[in-house]
Amino acid sequence: MRKYEKIRKIMDRGCKILGSDYAILGGAMTWISESNLVSTMSNAGMFGVLASGAMDGDLLKNEITLTQSKTNRNFGVNLILMNPKLQDLIDACGEKKVSHVILAGGIPDKDLIDKIHSYGIQVFSFAPSLALAKRLFRHGLDALILEGSEAGGHVGPISTMVLLQDIMLNIEKYPIFVAGGILRGEIFASMLLLGAVGCQLGTVFACAKESIAHENFKKALLRASAKDAVTPIQLDKKFPVAPVRAIENFGTAEFMAKQKDVLRKFENNEVSLEEGRLLLEHFWAGALRRAVQNGDVERGSLMSGQIVGAVKEEKSIEDILATILAEAENFLCKICQ
Ligand SMILES: Cc1cc2nc3c(=O)[nH]c(=O)nc-3n(C[C@H](O)[C@H](O)[C@H](O)COP(=O)(O)O)c2cc1C
Repeated sequence: MRKYEKIRKIMDRGCKILGSDYAILGGAMTWISESNLVSTMSNAGMFGVLASGAMDGDLLKNEITLTQSKTNRNFGVNLILMNPKLQDLIDACGEKKVSHVILAGGIPDKDLIDKIHSYGIQVFSFAPSLALAKRLFRHGLDALILEGSEAGGHVGPISTMVLLQDIMLNIEKYPIFVAGGILRGEIFASMLLLGAVGCQLGTVFACAKESIAHENFKKALLRASAKDAVTPIQLDKKFPVAPVRAIENFGTAEFMAKQKDVLRKFENNEVSLEEGRLLLEHFWAGALRRAVQNGDVERGSLMSGQIVGAVKEEKSIEDILATILAEAENFLCKICQ
């Protein structure tokens, strides 16, 4: 009998879309998902995704070339829509013949999807509502990533469980990968049984042996429990706060104090609305890099999902993958009896 026979059968559609052996994406993580981690993922049979963060076209081209020198398997490139160099980044992906682009940080319009398609690249994106998901598919989107608020990094307000029922179960014919709070193979298999074509995981891979994240960053994540991974509290609607899920630290407390200070200054006419908003926006600038590269776990941003509480060991990509697949296969054997 072929290994993982049952799970292979139900992830076949996702594997075909990705061109991988397993329908598991290693979600892009800025400063973490670089050529080494991504190529290791793709070589192991899953689908790695390069994070382009705030890169420009040349930097991205180099990173893609480096990744291609380490794997001949497919991998994706994550592009952030508000990056001012977005057009150059798309051209870089086209020139380097990337197979898939994953758009994040907004809703792409049809022209953008068409432009990426003109390079022969498949386009994935996120959507927070059924109406937007349907519109994206009408505009030619190849697959949707449905990411619940449990996930690490920038998140929407709705949990994976609710998104499944709000969106996935209402647009059954389109391919959907589910993200946010997934780790165990039983849950991965359940998503496939519900109609997903695959899953995207992030937090667990930030702690992988092959992840270049600083030792302090990994240790902080491995020590954390689910309730430590929070989104910041917004003190006043006039000063919107980006919902970024990260482990609470000294920086989180300082950010609360900063919000109070900005509010007080605004009420005393010491700063304008715009100035106050900018002060808050700038607070976290560079914070993920400080945590991931310098190991500043006190004031850096320790982005991670709530599933962090279940990640207790630094394991290799191969081990993480083998565990998920074995759990999924056993689960399917059990329910088929
Ligand atoms: C440290 C970190 C950085 C992330 N950076 C990005 C990013 O740059 N672009 C993106 O689309 N998603 C980003 N994400 C989200 C992941 O790609 C993935 O969708 C998410 O982690 C999945 O949920 P999980 O954390 O519950 O596994 C990030 C997540 C983490 C933990």
